[in-house]
Amino acid sequence: MEDLISNSLPGMRDLLPEEMGRFQLVEEHARRVFAQYGFAEIRTSILEPTELFARGIGDDTDIVGKEMYTFLDRSKRSVTLRPEATASVVRAYLQNAMYRSAGVTKLYYMGPMFRHEKKQKGRWRQFYQIGAEALGSDHPAIDAEMIEMALWLLKSLGVEAHLLLNSVGCRDCRPRYIDLLRSELNKCVTDLCEDCQRRASTNSLRVFDCKVERCQPFIETLPAISEHLCQECAEHFAKVKGCLDEAGIAYTFVPRLVRGLDYYIRTAFEIVSGELGAQNALAGGGRYDGLSEALGGPPVHALGFALGLDRLVMILPEEQSAKSQRKPELFLAYMGEAALIKVSEIARDLRHQGFSCYLDFSAGTMKSQLRMANKLGTRHVLIVGDDELARNVASIKCLDDSRQWEIAIPDIGAYLNRFRIPNS
Ligand code: HAM
Repeated sequence: MEDLISNSLPGMRDLLPEEMGRFQLVEEHARRVFAQYGFAEIRTSILEPTELFARGIGDDTDIVGKEMYTFLDRSKRSVTLRPEATASVVRAYLQNAMYRSAGVTKLYYMGPMFRHEKKQKGRWRQFYQIGAEALGSDHPAIDAEMIEMALWLLKSLGVEAHLLLNSVGCRDCRPRYIDLLRSELNKCVTDLCEDCQRRASTNSLRVFDCKVERCQPFIETLPAISEHLCQECAEHFAKVKGCLDEAGIAYTFVPRLVRGLDYYIRTAFEIVSGELGAQNALAGGGRYDGLSEALGGPPVHALGFALGLDRLVMILPEEQSAKSQRKPELFLAYMGEAALIKVSEIARDLRHQGFSCYLDFSAGTMKSQLRMANKLGTRHVLIVGDDELARNVASIKCLDDSRQWEIAIPDIGAYLNRFRIPNS
């Protein structure tokens, strides 16, 4: 016999049924919140041409330089498992000429992303994001509304989080700032790590992504982008902050927050939670007005965010987690083959009426079936044995207080509908 293949790849994991309830709860909740804000779902492909991310996210970012799952497909084309979905959404927006329709295009997505990162608590190589993108407006109020939506999604799930905010300038003011940054970096370049030495000349802004300890004291003394904004960017940022104030949204201004992707323009933000430990970012986002052009499309103002679902479910409050446990409304227990045929018929009928019914086919004893019903969290068990079958009745047992009573089999549907046995 071959060796059993029983391990997934490092950093990859299976989401087991116990955990899926929480994922589904958040996903359903997100769908409701996004609909309230006028967003519609999009599903883009998971495998994309590598060029999309190289051009979209930037060659010099950690994501593109070190973390992508890139390989040649059978036609020798370089393809990549998406490390994020913003570039894919913009690609789909351009491919489907969505820019032709009037107004702002508001899209949301949820699904797996892939980054070959160092494994750590709260960090996986296949992880799940819920994200939203709005394309077609540069109004500062939409920046604030996008942030409000992300925070509302978290708050309505009972999750405490805090907003970190910055502006990273635009294509007018950033080159001037980069010149300044580069000249400052040149003064300390030999003290920096190898990556930072390279970044100092290729993509200086990425120095702020560095996690190497010996670089930190130097990074802290570097000029901050937000102190070198052009007038338009400064005004835009002031208006975004004004809108947030009006909405009663608290934030911390973090002048050196640049985010790890090259496409950001102006507003950049992160939403963090103290409950997460080292990987404390629950969500990140911002404006990316130049991304459409970088991908060969027309100029399009756009912004968005993505939320790490794996991290969010880790800190979901207990009462929300409890809600996510779906229990069958009725467990159907039987003794003997003839009773099994009868309970299958009852279950079929009840399911057609909208009840959830659990039927176990392992033909255990009545005791073991009741134990299983208990384990599943079902409160009511319908029992059919030889005696019940002969009299065309079923017993209903309430597991909370062990009360038991009988109902004529033809009346079960009407009876349950009348009382609609509540389960949780
Ligand atoms: P990001 O900051 O790279 O942004 O990722 C967003 C969120 O995804 C993070 O805050 C984190 O919660 C989660 N995340 C990222 N990497 C991992 C990982 N390895 N394991 C678990 N969770 C992770 C983006 O992806 C942008 N596309 C966001 C955006 C949308 N910007 C504009 N629109």
